[in-house]
Amino acid sequence: MAHKLAVFNMKGGVGKSTTAYNLAAGLVKFHRQRVLIVDIDPQGNSAASLGIQIWQLETQLKDVLQRQASMQNAIVSTPSGVDVVPSNILLAEEEIPISGLPGRELLLRKAIAAVDDQYDYILIDCPPNVGVFAVNALMAAEKVIIPVDMSYLGLLGIQGIERALSLVRDYLDHPIEVAGALATRYDGRNNLSKEVLASLKEHFGDRMFATQIPETVKLREAPSHGQSIFEYEPSGTGAKAYQSLVNEVIAL
Ligand SMILES: Nc1ncnc2c1ncn2[C@@H]1O[C@H](COP(=O)(O)OP(=O)(O)OP(=O)(O)O)[C@@H](O)[C@H]1O
Ligand SMILES: [Mg+2]
Repeated sequence: MAHKLAVFNMKGGVGKSTTAYNLAAGLVKFHRQRVLIVDIDPQGNSAASLGIQIWQLETQLKDVLQRQASMQNAIVSTPSGVDVVPSNILLAEEEIPISGLPGRELLLRKAIAAVDDQYDYILIDCPPNVGVFAVNALMAAEKVIIPVDMSYLGLLGIQGIERALSLVRDYLDHPIEVAGALATRYDGRNNLSKEVLASLKEHFGDRMFATQIPETVKLREAPSHGQSIFEYEPSGTGAKAYQSLVNEVIAL
């Protein structure tokens, strides 16, 4: 059975997709793991960052959730060795019909069950909200990785994240665990980064990854080349940080 991890934060732009695709690529590159990314965000960012042409998809995640295609048929392989079930904006257009299906919170969990034994890790890239797609991601995952950017509003969002996880545990009876909070877009020259990191450590304690992801130009540029940071700038600080996260995830 695959380890199933959702990359979750309702706040936008915190590095969920950047983390999902670089972590996936690193698990393949450094540990020869079989890795699938499920992109359950209509922005399609983790799929696009791995070079998938998200506007030319024959089959995508929405077809699987609507039971019009098998998960197997929606899988796309990428040059980095990561497999992806991609999405694009058509997923957003199907949100209301999908929300009306019986067992709507469990659609992704059931879809993933069909390919579970083919992978060591299944990473789910969440949208920046707590709608039906994010809930499907949390219900399909055993653990969440919570990227938090180094800002006051990033810190403020933590209460909402904890509440969303409590709702899933209490009302949907799913014992989702926190694999770890991850400090992202960290800039050591900046006092706010240091203050936010200290508050994060206080809140999450040992549920915090030791790795911090720095803010770097190369991490921002890599998606436009359809490459992970390990291909785009293998010796830079971004690659080193994501390799260190990969090692922490392997050790979970
Ligand atoms: N560590 C970083 N250094 C520099 N740029 C970064 C870093 N992390 C993310 N970015 C850039 O910031 C933007 C937002 O990152 P990303 O898409 O990973 O966030 P997200 O949480 O997935 O956003 P959304 O909530 O919209 O899905 C992107 O342009 C990305 O390239
Ligand atoms: Mg994203």
